[in-house]
Amino acid sequence: MLKWKLVVSASLPSLALFFLLFFFILHVKFSFVVFSNIVPPINPPLITVPAKFSVLIGILTRPNSYDRRHFLRLIYGIQSSPIADIDVKFVFCNLTKDEQRVFIALEIMRFNDIFILNCTENMNSGKTYTYFSSLPRILPRTYDYVMKADDDVFLRLAPLAISLRPLPRTDLYYGFVIPCASQNPYVNYMSGMGFLLSWDLVVWIGDSQIPANDTYGPEDKLVGRWLKMGNKAKNRFTDKPAMYDYPGTNGKCSHDLIPKTVAVHRLKRWDQWINVLNFFNVTKQLKSSYLYNL
Ligand SMILES: *[C@@H]1O[C@H](CO)[C@@H](O)[C@H](O)[C@H]1NC(C)=O
Ligand SMILES: *[C@@H]1O[C@H](CO)[C@@H](O)[C@H](O)[C@H]1NC(C)=O
Ligand SMILES: *[C@@H]1O[C@H](CO)[C@@H](O)[C@H](O)[C@H]1NC(C)=O
Ligand SMILES: *[C@@H]1O[C@H](CO)[C@@H](O)[C@H](O)[C@H]1NC(C)=O
Repeated sequence: MLKWKLVVSASLPSLALFFLLFFFILHVKFSFVVFSNIVPPINPPLITVPAKFSVLIGILTRPNSYDRRHFLRLIYGIQSSPIADIDVKFVFCNLTKDEQRVFIALEIMRFNDIFILNCTENMNSGKTYTYFSSLPRILPRTYDYVMKADDDVFLRLAPLAISLRPLPRTDLYYGFVIPCASQNPYVNYMSGMGFLLSWDLVVWIGDSQIPANDTYGPEDKLVGRWLKMGNKAKNRFTDKPAMYDYPGTNGKCSHDLIPKTVAVHRLKRWDQWINVLNFFNVTKQLKSSYLYNL
């Protein structure tokens, strides 16, 4: 109705303009059709991107280690891998102080990266067992791999993912085998600096009576013993020399920093962290800006 009224009420010159516009639009449309007939249809890309695998890294720490968590959030917040989805979380036992219930609630509200397990903070009291055995129950999702790491280790996530990519996704126990000089991953257990289990082994730890009956003692050693007793972890990989203790801190477990590092352990002092971050050029990624000058 409105259109008709417009055309009827239009004067002759504007009617001409109307038709001119009409044919112009028609022409453009027509050209487009011709054009799109010449161009071959675009096929969907045939490159198949391999599915990313997923890793949960639980850093076992203590409620009061606020400064360490702040620092490690920076360290892991600036890292990622194009081939793996890696979640880094902080893990500790029950809170013991009222102030913690406030400060840690704030941390969780802001960062959502803390798991509080049902255990009491104590050396050798089964925190590692509680960590692995709780995960299938408390996590809303599964991961391909679950890692346990110390809070004095520097993990490089991209090299870690590259190391894991060719390895089996099941029955896998990965890390730095003890004793330090050994290259045989079946000889004993993986160091607590950072070891990783495939999800099926995490589920097994939660279900089997073997770990449940054997939770007291040096935690990382226990994991090796459970797997041996259960005849588990047929696939093992010790990532030497890419994992090691900081130079000069632990005999044969230490060596110089090397470019292909996955993990450096025993970073107890700031000067050690600074050397490591400088060696791996971590802060060189910083973009230049008029807003700061370092
Ligand atoms: C937490 O651990 C205590 C002591 O081991 C146990 O009595 C309690 O049932 C556990 N609570 C939950 C929610 O698992
Ligand atoms: C941890 O805290 C919860 C809630 O306060 C309590 O029910 C549980 O018994 C505690 N567990 C241990 C092992 O102390
Ligand atoms: C674990 O301990 C329980 C109770 O002490 C016992 O009944 C069970 O046989 C033990 N299981 C294993 C695998 O050692
Ligand atoms: C850090 O950067 C320097 C200078 O660009 C380079 O020579 C060195 O290989 C880099 N180090 C690592 C571990 O990539």
